[in-house]
Amino acid sequence: MKILGIETSCDETGAAVVDGIDGRLNLLSNVVSSSADLHRQYGGVVPEIAARSHIEAINPVILKAMTDANCSWKDITAIAVTKGPGLGGSLLVGVLTARTLAILHDKPLYGINHVLAHAYAAFITGSSNDYELAGHPSEFPLLALIVSGGHTLLAHFKDHFDYILLGSTTDDAVGEAYDKTAKILGLPYPGGPSVEKLAKKGNPEKYSLPKAKTKNKYDFSYSGLKTAVLRLAQAEIGEDYDFPSYKLSERLSDLQKADIAACFNRTAIEALVDKTRRAFEEYAPRSVIVSGGVSASPELRKQMKTALPIQPIFPDPGLCTDNGAMIAAAGYFASRSKTGRADPKELDIMPGLSL
Ligand code: KG4
Ligand code: ZN
Repeated sequence: MKILGIETSCDETGAAVVDGIDGRLNLLSNVVSSSADLHRQYGGVVPEIAARSHIEAINPVILKAMTDANCSWKDITAIAVTKGPGLGGSLLVGVLTARTLAILHDKPLYGINHVLAHAYAAFITGSSNDYELAGHPSEFPLLALIVSGGHTLLAHFKDHFDYILLGSTTDDAVGEAYDKTAKILGLPYPGGPSVEKLAKKGNPEKYSLPKAKTKNKYDFSYSGLKTAVLRLAQAEIGEDYDFPSYKLSERLSDLQKADIAACFNRTAIEALVDKTRRAFEEYAPRSVIVSGGVSASPELRKQMKTALPIQPIFPDPGLCTDNGAMIAAAGYFASRSKTGRADPKELDIMPGLSL
């Protein structure tokens, strides 16, 4: 059963074909075209530029995904598309394209929750020419930590699409905190990889940054840490809180930047690992999935492996950031459990969709 997945929620245009056979998924193709380079000069995603880039990329990306998978339309059983959450203009491009293709080729259509789909990257366990896949399927009940530029959450799944949300961020997402810290340190967008690279050169014990306390023990909070990084950088150059953040990187030395990156990285990761370990102890899941853009972080992977008594499942880093394969994988399980089938004439975007 071959599923075409389409992703356009933020700045990546993604399309992929997965082939599901008895619950195992082979990844036949995965094509991602990113507009990140166009956003870099602005230090974050510009929605209008992202939407325009999706319009330009969507047809060639889908065609390449079909060609790479050696597929024609008659081979495709269903189409899955991200319906939300995300940027409205970006989502519209993917959803309208998927609706048109579903009508034109008479295929069932599935509207997929992007955040949920991040966990489904871990369910692609068959074969792939380009990615290292998990050796065995995740087992229920399972715990999923989803950490991305827009989301930070912990959920407990009894089965496919049957979950409770244990906690989520009360303010900023962890990826957002990486991106803001990168800006303060004068590092390029997206901030995660660049902060982590610089962190390797610094002393993670040099400063003590605050650990957020949340009312719900499984919630996260990253805005305090983000502000603490700003105040620390200002204090390090002997300025006070009204010194503009965009001028900080000129005044900080390379060593100060590396030490701040290292301390931020340690504190940001500690909260994720602590809460996942606590939830593991309370819920005793059979599998733990850690996914989303921030889970590409080697340091997070290392610390999570040490903290948990079972091996957590991390999708290949190339499948952690936004892509069509995770949407196709979620679409496969949605079609098997008859969840989320949409009318191609009516499927609407849901920019504020939550888990
Ligand atoms: O999942 P994703 O591609 O997009 C969203 O759905 O938001 O996540 C993007 C986020 C960005 O904030 C980026 O800085 C972060 O993932 N990221 C990382 C790493 N690679 C990407 N954060 C930490 N370490 C990394 N290696
Ligand atoms: Zn994402």
